[in-house]
Amino acid sequence: MIGKTPPMGWNSWNTFGWEISEDLIKGIADVFVEQNLKAAGYEYIVIDDCWSKKQRDSKGRLVPDEEKFPSGMKALADYIHSKGLKFGMYSCAGTMTCAGYPGSFEHEFIDAETFASWDVDYLKYDYCYKPDGIPGHILYKRMAMALRNCGRDILFSACNWGNDESFNWMRASGAHIFRSTGDIQDNWESIKNLALQQLNKECYSGPYCYNDVDMLVVGMYGKGNVALGGCTDEEYKTHFSLWALMDSPLMIGSDIRKMNEASKNILTNKEIIEINQDIEGRQAYTIPQWNNSNCMAYIKTLTNGDYAIGFFNFGDTSGEMSLQFWDMGLPTSSGFGLSLRDLWKHEDLGTFTESYTLKLEPHSCAVFRAKVVKP
Ligand code: GLA
Repeated sequence: MIGKTPPMGWNSWNTFGWEISEDLIKGIADVFVEQNLKAAGYEYIVIDDCWSKKQRDSKGRLVPDEEKFPSGMKALADYIHSKGLKFGMYSCAGTMTCAGYPGSFEHEFIDAETFASWDVDYLKYDYCYKPDGIPGHILYKRMAMALRNCGRDILFSACNWGNDESFNWMRASGAHIFRSTGDIQDNWESIKNLALQQLNKECYSGPYCYNDVDMLVVGMYGKGNVALGGCTDEEYKTHFSLWALMDSPLMIGSDIRKMNEASKNILTNKEIIEINQDIEGRQAYTIPQWNNSNCMAYIKTLTNGDYAIGFFNFGDTSGEMSLQFWDMGLPTSSGFGLSLRDLWKHEDLGTFTESYTLKLEPHSCAVFRAKVVKP
């Protein structure tokens, strides 16, 4: 079954925009294997907008731009599959894609058939140039039905930015993930804004249909299509931790052919990825810090009885944070406490009762795995 846990992979948009090619995508597939991203769980390699010609062929089918993809999409899919990875593509619910290439409106079934004939495993489906008079939920239901009947398992990644109250109908329509926020940029303000836009949406996310807070910017350092500033490694660590706790898909957006050790350590932190991939798919809820509105704890209930606890400082000055265990359902009267393991330092910290207090630098975080234990 596809979509049981948030998908993990790479998407071309954040860094490369329209500058995509067969060689780039093959190079990314090679790096997935060589740099152990595949071993860490990354699976899908997705080509975003700008891959096709501006016109369909005489039979109404989408045609790849042969200057960018001279061997065609089936050959590229074969290459990606030969590495044990999966292949994703992009289209749009409107008449054109956001960058002005043909969209799938009124071509949903023929496009699903085309994608299946190329052995595509994932389709990102955008929301630009939406035709007048047709509700968004019908557009997504159309493509969901087409994909579900094309003869191939294709993960359906809906991208309508949370418009039209999509949290009310996306799961029912058949999407596996759905963008619940606007587009990300490679800067701290954007990371913070997207995380805050996602607050109180945890009830809409779960297995087979996860909230998607957009692709990762970890490792972009201000270079590429959505760059606009760049971030520090500390900010990328905070970003990755938030996305993991929010059960967002983990789709890398940087040029991993040039990945440095710091980005690799962030993107392949197995203990953090395990939290994101927890099988019950319960997105973290939040507990604000009562005396500091910039600080927040994120609590994610895990399948085996453990809890993932993230402490975040969104503010520009350092702050002290305290979590009262009572707030996550653990009264002192229970006689139980929490044993904590720091998932960035990979260190066991011991057992605590009643509460835990720590200091956080601006834009930074700490993430723990907590076991409920008798001290
Ligand atoms: C929209 C999407 C982005 C990207 C671009 C491509 O803005 O939200 O993620 O796919 O379109 O044009």
